[in-house]
Amino acid sequence: MSNNLLKGKRGIITGALNSASIAWKVAEKAHQQGAIFTLTNAPVAMRMGEMKELAAATKSEVIPADATSVEDLTTLFQKSQEILGGKIDFVLHSIGMSPNVRKNLPYTDLNYEYFQKSVDISALSLHKMLSVAMKMDALSEGASVVALSYIAAQKTFPFYNDMADAKAILESIARSFGYHYGKKKKVRVNTISQSPTKTTAGNGIKGFTEFYGFADAMSPLGNATAESCADFCIVMFSDLTKMVTMQNLFHDGGYSSTGASTEAIEKFAS
Ligand SMILES: NC(=O)c1ccc[n+]([C@@H]2O[C@H](COP(=O)([O-])OP(=O)(O)OC[C@H]3O[C@@H](n4cnc5c(N)ncnc54)[C@H](O)[C@@H]3O)[C@@H](O)[C@H]2O)c1
Repeated sequence: MSNNLLKGKRGIITGALNSASIAWKVAEKAHQQGAIFTLTNAPVAMRMGEMKELAAATKSEVIPADATSVEDLTTLFQKSQEILGGKIDFVLHSIGMSPNVRKNLPYTDLNYEYFQKSVDISALSLHKMLSVAMKMDALSEGASVVALSYIAAQKTFPFYNDMADAKAILESIARSFGYHYGKKKKVRVNTISQSPTKTTAGNGIKGFTEFYGFADAMSPLGNATAESCADFCIVMFSDLTKMVTMQNLFHDGGYSSTGASTEAIEKFAS
C-alpha cells in the first residue's frame, strides 16, 4: 500500500542487520512511501548482514558507520546529503547492543567497561548523531528523528540488564535534544517504545521467548510486530506529525497501560 506519505523526502536508516530487523521493515515501507534514503550499520555488522539485498530492493546506497564514532557519523551525514541531493528529512536510530547481555553477566555484577559500551552504542550514539547533524546543518526544517526504545526505561524488567539504563538515557536525550533542535529548526525528536520483537537483538536477551509470550498475553492487542512498528515510524517521519516532539510513544498493543489481563491471570488458576 502506498500513499506517498514520504514522497520527496530524504532519509538515513540505521540498524538493518537482516530481514527480521525493525529497521529493515522501515526501509521497505519508506521506499514504498516514496522516500529516498541511505542505509548504514557498523562496519562489522555489515559483513555479517544481508544489507546489500535490502539496498538493491530499495535502490539505496550503504554507508558503513560505527554509531559511536563522531568521525564516522560526520561522513555518514556528509555522504548521505551528497548522494540524496539535499538536507535530510528523517533519521531512524535503530541501534542497540550490550556486551554485558552478550556475555550473560548479571545486572548486580556488571563489567563497567562493557556498561560504558552499552550506553555509548545504545544511547549516546543518538546524541552524537544529533550533535553532528546540528553542527553540519544537515537536517531540513521540521525534519523527524525517531529512536527505538523499550519500556524497561520506566519499569523494571530484570532480564533486560544494563540495556534498561541505556534506554532511560536514550529517551532522556530525545527530550533534551528535542528541545534544542525544535527551537533551532523545528526538528522533531521522539522515541518509540516497541513491544518485544523477534529480532537478533531481541532474541539475545535471556528468557526472551518466555517474556514474549507473557507480554503477548498482557497486551489487549497482542505484541506489536516489527512491521506495524515500521508503519508507526513512517507516520512519525511524515508531515502528519509535525507537532509531535520530545515524546516517548508506546507502540505495544496496550501493554504499558495494562495492570493485569485475564489471559495472564488464568495461568495461575489452580
Ligand atoms: N527486538 C525487540 O524486542 C525490541 C524491543 C524494543 C526496542 N528494540 C530496539 O529496536 C532497535 C533495533 O533492534 P532490532 O530488534 O531490530 O534488532 P537488530 O539486532 O536487528 O538491530 C540492532 C542493530 O544495531 C546495530 N548496531 C550495534 N552496534 C552498532 C554500532 N556500534 N554502530 C551502528 N550500529 C550498531 C546492529 O548491527 C543491528 O543492526 C534497538 O534499539 C532495540 O533495542 C527492540
